[in-house]
Amino acid sequence: MQSELRKKLLDAFSRSEDEYVSGQFLADTLGCSRTAIWKHIEDLRKEGFELEAVRKKGYRITKVPERITADEIRLGLSTKFLGTQIHYEESVGSTQKIAHHLANEDAPEGTVIIAEEQLSGRGRMDRKWHSPKYTGVWMSVILRPNIPPPKAPQLTLITAVAVVQAIEELTGLSPQIKWPNDILINGKKVTGILTELQADADRIISIIIGIGINVNQQIEDYPDEIKNIATSLSIESGKKLQRAELVKLLLHKFENLYLLYLEKGFYPIKLLWESCAISIGKTITARTITGSIHGKALGITEDGVLMIEDEAGKVHHVYSADIEL
Ligand code: BTN
Repeated sequence: MQSELRKKLLDAFSRSEDEYVSGQFLADTLGCSRTAIWKHIEDLRKEGFELEAVRKKGYRITKVPERITADEIRLGLSTKFLGTQIHYEESVGSTQKIAHHLANEDAPEGTVIIAEEQLSGRGRMDRKWHSPKYTGVWMSVILRPNIPPPKAPQLTLITAVAVVQAIEELTGLSPQIKWPNDILINGKKVTGILTELQADADRIISIIIGIGINVNQQIEDYPDEIKNIATSLSIESGKKLQRAELVKLLLHKFENLYLLYLEKGFYPIKLLWESCAISIGKTITARTITGSIHGKALGITEDGVLMIEDEAGKVHHVYSADIEL
């Protein structure tokens, strides 16, 4: 729905202060038909608003969706630097794009960009990332680690472990990681991570880590093409979850793991990552841009590179691929 119409609709409800607002009044205020109003009301419901509709009286909002504004996240957040600067937006193209812009404007390490909705959310390999309003966590984090650029993929693996830990603590579910950065529950994707680098030849200027977590979507909310491969924390846990709580947990876990990594190197992270990885020890197919490799996933190297042993016993190092289990 166009934002101007949405604003008029919500204004009409705000002015009514808990009273019913008739469909005819809304139609006149917005300058559209009553059928169009009914559609707008359905859109509001999809976004998490709860509305009562009573014949001859009209509509009344009974519950507004929970938000993940900067204030909601800051309340009770005790990280040292992660999330001390939060940029919150209702609707954006992509939080990654904003993060790149802010990183170029010298935004400090730990800056978080979070949005209720992304209109052109992007995934790995130029795919789209479905990011509907008020249902998920769509955020990007700016980091500026003093590590050589080839080590940047390690940050993706740190993020994946942090997401697993946060989901476990909030829901009691046991997510698994599919190399390099998909988080699955019962074989379906619940989280994607997109790491983008700004670097000189020998120095990282910034790493932008984009995290998309499907939280409160229901199966009917997914487009047909991803219905069979995607899930949400709500579908898996049977509960509606507080997204701000999840973000806080994630920022805590992420900061702890990142500080551990800066102090002790990648090895402790590698152990944690392998303990949640779905593919290790299994026979998998890795589809890379140069062809497919089929064999047993042995584990990851110190640099987070996947090792696959083919039937002839040759060990392949895989830097980027789609994995089929
Ligand atoms: C993938 O699995 O393909 C990665 C998906 C990453 C999605 C997140 S949502 C927040 C950030 N902004 C984007 O446009 N993409 C990332």
